[in-house]
Amino acid sequence: MNRWTKVIGTGGYLPPIIRTNDDISSMVDTSDSWIYERTGIKSRRIAGPEETASSMAEIAARQAIDMAGIAATDIDMIIVATGTPERVYPSTACLLQERLGIKHAVGFDIQAACSGSVYGLSIADQYIKTGFANNVLVVGSEICSRIVDWSDRSTCILFGDGAGAILLTAGTEPGILSTHIHSDGGYEDLLYCPNPQVAAEAKQHELAFISMRGNEVFKVAVNTLGRIVDETLAANGLQQSDIDWLVPHQANTRIIAATAKKLGMSMDQVILTLENQGNTSSASVLLAFNEGVRDGRIQGGQTVLMEAFGAGFTWGSVLLRY
Ligand SMILES: CC(C)(COP(=O)(O)OP(=O)(O)OC[C@H]1O[C@@H](n2cnc3c(N)ncnc32)[C@H](O)[C@@H]1OP(=O)(O)O)[C@@H](O)C(=O)NCCC(=O)NCCS
Repeated sequence: MNRWTKVIGTGGYLPPIIRTNDDISSMVDTSDSWIYERTGIKSRRIAGPEETASSMAEIAARQAIDMAGIAATDIDMIIVATGTPERVYPSTACLLQERLGIKHAVGFDIQAACSGSVYGLSIADQYIKTGFANNVLVVGSEICSRIVDWSDRSTCILFGDGAGAILLTAGTEPGILSTHIHSDGGYEDLLYCPNPQVAAEAKQHELAFISMRGNEVFKVAVNTLGRIVDETLAANGLQQSDIDWLVPHQANTRIIAATAKKLGMSMDQVILTLENQGNTSSASVLLAFNEGVRDGRIQGGQTVLMEAFGAGFTWGSVLLRY
């Protein structure tokens, strides 16, 4: 009998502080209309000074565990995707494990920038399908506001903070149908964030933050996401019309619209959270999926395509039957 990976719980956390486009317009030379027209973003959430990647991950994870109706101690693997860990080590996954009171599990972080949650789901799927793990918690948790230069209008308008979680278990029916992950290290200069240690040693302020050539990233993202859609459909012998929901990484409405068009989907079939969350990096796909599940748009038996693209470049997709 086949062993499949099934979603049994989702969760999400957004910090209470809201930073609007008008707030940013008082910090740098920009405007609400420019930001909204170019990106689709109106506001984003900002973590408070006491919050960390693991504290936000815990809230999202507990929601997923509650929905699943299992005990936290039933989880045997914890995968956290983050580019903003509070410690280089221990990993955020280990810190989360302690917060959740799970003694017998393996926890580790992955670094795939904005593709982190899709990478995490792909890794979890391999471990569940092979029988190595039964219940896997995947979390994306990001405090992007701490690695954004709030005097750089080309990047500070885009990012926000948040955490998303998903709980997966082994089942006899699909489940995750396929996952596809890729990277190409040849694009380092278009989008990067140095290790803070490097900035401290060099005493160069700009080395502490995200650096991006947005226009060039945009073009590669649109083309690459178009290819991953083709790859995912072909691998499953599916047509565009077989997909009920697109749950994309939330970087820019125009990038998302291009992917939806490639799938022949209307924007009504896309879970969009960008407007009031901005780009929450590895948290964004899980936050969007959680929203779609909890507000009842994504129904049992429906086919969902998740996709993401991020620094590296990294990119990937997950096709699942909910
Ligand atoms: C960042 C982004 C919104 C910029 O939009 P764009 O249409 O590409 O704009 P450009 O970078 O070409 O800049 C156009 C002009 O707007 C200006 N500009 C840039 N940011 C601005 C802002 N916040 N407000 C007002 N003007 C701005 C630029 O200086 C430039 O001015 P110029 O023509 O006088 O030189 C867009 O490129 C984008 O979203 N890229 C993808 C980013 C992404 O997805 N990153 C994460 C991947 S995970």
